[in-house]
Amino acid sequence: MKKLALLGAGNVGAATAQVLANRPDIQVEITKVLVRDVSKAREGISSKQLSANPGEVLDSADIIVEVMGGTGLAGDLTLKALQAGKPVISANKAVLAERWQELKPYAEQGLLHYESSVMAGTPAVGPLSSVLRGSSPLELHAILNGTCNYILTELEKGVSYQNALAEAQRLGYAEADPTLDVGGFDAAHKLTVLARLVFDPSIEWETVKASTKGIDKLTPTVMTEAKERGGKIRLLASVYPEGGTWQVKVRPVFLPLDHLMASAASNKNALYFKGDAIGEVFITGAGAGGMATASGVVADLLDVLANRPGPALLKQPAPVPSIQIEALEEI
Ligand SMILES: NC(=O)c1ccc[n+]([C@@H]2O[C@H](COP(=O)([O-])OP(=O)(O)OC[C@H]3O[C@@H](n4cnc5c(N)ncnc54)[C@H](OP(=O)(O)O)[C@@H]3O)[C@@H](O)[C@H]2O)c1
Repeated sequence: MKKLALLGAGNVGAATAQVLANRPDIQVEITKVLVRDVSKAREGISSKQLSANPGEVLDSADIIVEVMGGTGLAGDLTLKALQAGKPVISANKAVLAERWQELKPYAEQGLLHYESSVMAGTPAVGPLSSVLRGSSPLELHAILNGTCNYILTELEKGVSYQNALAEAQRLGYAEADPTLDVGGFDAAHKLTVLARLVFDPSIEWETVKASTKGIDKLTPTVMTEAKERGGKIRLLASVYPEGGTWQVKVRPVFLPLDHLMASAASNKNALYFKGDAIGEVFITGAGAGGMATASGVVADLLDVLANRPGPALLKQPAPVPSIQIEALEEI
């Protein structure tokens, strides 16, 4: 039986243990689980499994699942496991976006698996790095942050930005420091991961960060005006051709109601891909939540157990088409 260690037993880590407990078809033993507070009880995880010692946790297993978050220790432990030749399953888009240069050699060896880092268990990384490579990409647009979707939906109902944010925090959607979500940076982390797989393997986090604008300046009035004009405003993460280069951006845009992205439910993530041969593809589903994310983690685990490598990296940038893409109106 393969041995698996979890780095983190929060929303995603605890849900992963729960999903695995209900899957006798998946032959793995959870050896150790890294947490800060070993005295806190965690459903489905015994106190003997808990450890606050990263070295002990890494050494205990053949497969490492990183679901702790942050870019410091999480990135260091991921690298340590990879350096020891252990496959790592990561839900951590911040580490993937910001520490890619260090991770890339191991990703090239197929040791890094990260389906759940973007759109949780809803397929995104998988199809974009496999079946959709059969077409040359023309453009990609995605709604990648559930907290922003929630706040925008509240603004549409006439609730002020401050009250909508406070409610999102009360419901546990937004962090106490909500900048990652409402500043657009969480969506930008995810877009960086996708853009490297589809458009240009050398896209840097700092470039995407510099082209990121959040939703904190939006008001109920702006939302009402959009509705009167026959559309809605959404925080969109996009890659599209302009001026002979790929533009990689996160910003609020006006979406006409006939745009496929406008049809995404407000509590879902969504991905729109247009390729030269395939045409339009639209994928929508849960983009967050412990169980939905654990589903993506377990999908990666099945790949590891079957000796399938992580996503194949793009070898060179996709050619930038000369066609004119109808620009979406930025708000
Ligand atoms: N939640 C989602 O819906 C979702 C969706 C997709 C991706 N993700 C990603 O999945 C990761 C985990 O998210 P989450 O929501 O599960 O986070 P979380 O609920 O905050 O859980 C984090 C876990 O990591 C442990 N941890 C954090 N820092 C640690 C440290 N320095 N030393 C030891 N243990 C440490 C915590 O221990 P304690 O419990 O003792 O504090 C906790 O068990 C993040 O990278 C996130 O971006 C989350």
